[in-house]
Amino acid sequence: MKKKKISLVTGGGGMLGLQHASALLEIGYVVVLVDINDRSLKKNSFKLKKKYPNKIFFYRTDVSKETEVKTLASKIKKRFNKINVLINNAAIDYVPNRNLKQKNKFLNSFENFSLERWNKELSVGLSGVFLMSKYFGKLMKKNEANVIINISSDLSVIAPNQKLYNHLKSFKPVTYSVIKFGVIGLTKYLASYWAKKNIRVNALSPGGVFNFQDKTFVKKLRNEIPMGRMAKVDEYKGSIKFLCSNDSSYMTGHNLVVDGGRTIL
Ligand SMILES: NC(=O)c1ccc[n+]([C@@H]2O[C@H](COP(=O)([O-])OP(=O)(O)OC[C@H]3O[C@@H](n4cnc5c(N)ncnc54)[C@H](O)[C@@H]3O)[C@@H](O)[C@H]2O)c1
Repeated sequence: MKKKKISLVTGGGGMLGLQHASALLEIGYVVVLVDINDRSLKKNSFKLKKKYPNKIFFYRTDVSKETEVKTLASKIKKRFNKINVLINNAAIDYVPNRNLKQKNKFLNSFENFSLERWNKELSVGLSGVFLMSKYFGKLMKKNEANVIINISSDLSVIAPNQKLYNHLKSFKPVTYSVIKFGVIGLTKYLASYWAKKNIRVNALSPGGVFNFQDKTFVKKLRNEIPMGRMAKVDEYKGSIKFLCSNDSSYMTGHNLVVDGGRTIL
């Protein structure tokens, strides 16, 4: 009998978490969804359960809290005794939206950025990746093929163009750049650290997904992308399948940038 392959997606209640999970299910993985938001976690799980009734599990966990991550790891160990794929996808993001304009004149400005917010966002997007990798790397068996994918962003390659946000009187927050560049550093560190332990560690850097954001923002962003459009929500599934399969067996420490060409300009 073929061994079961177990995967885990953080931020599994979110928009891309659902897509990553669906990609993994399509290539035969059991999927564990993890999120801090109970409602969206259940919603995504129920959507996927319709087609894959016995292959979805979900756990509410805050990836920035070491005690919660440790407890989750012991539950997964008890239930499956291993993990093959970890997708570190959870992050706090700012969505450009017109209704922010009236509320706050200088949203996300660096000069007024609080240390509290800096710590909070880094604790999810960066420390969360550290904690999850620490506890789930231990559950990866040396005699099986294992994969960690850290979800970064086209903003792991370039700086945000703040002109995209000026009509909304806001900025892309500094934390996003620091987190997404940091995730690449962690990816390379772990790829080298665990190379002999049969764990490949790569980053996937998506460009922006169209999700009915502010119209002017979308128009400005399109002009920055050689392909002239934002991504469709399911356009990263192929990359997830590739990075989790043997087709990428000689690939580790890489940052796979999928961005309609935005970062080549
Ligand atoms: N959507 C895009 O256009 C885009 C582009 C490039 C990169 N990304 C990256 O892709 C990833 C997913 O983005 P998305 O658009 O699906 O975002 P999303 O907001 O829909 O999903 C993120 C999920 O993370 C969860 N989360 C937040 N804090 C958490 C915590 N402490 N513990 C556990 N879960 C927590 C949220 O509840 C949410 O469900 C993020 O890392 C994001 O930076 C997104």
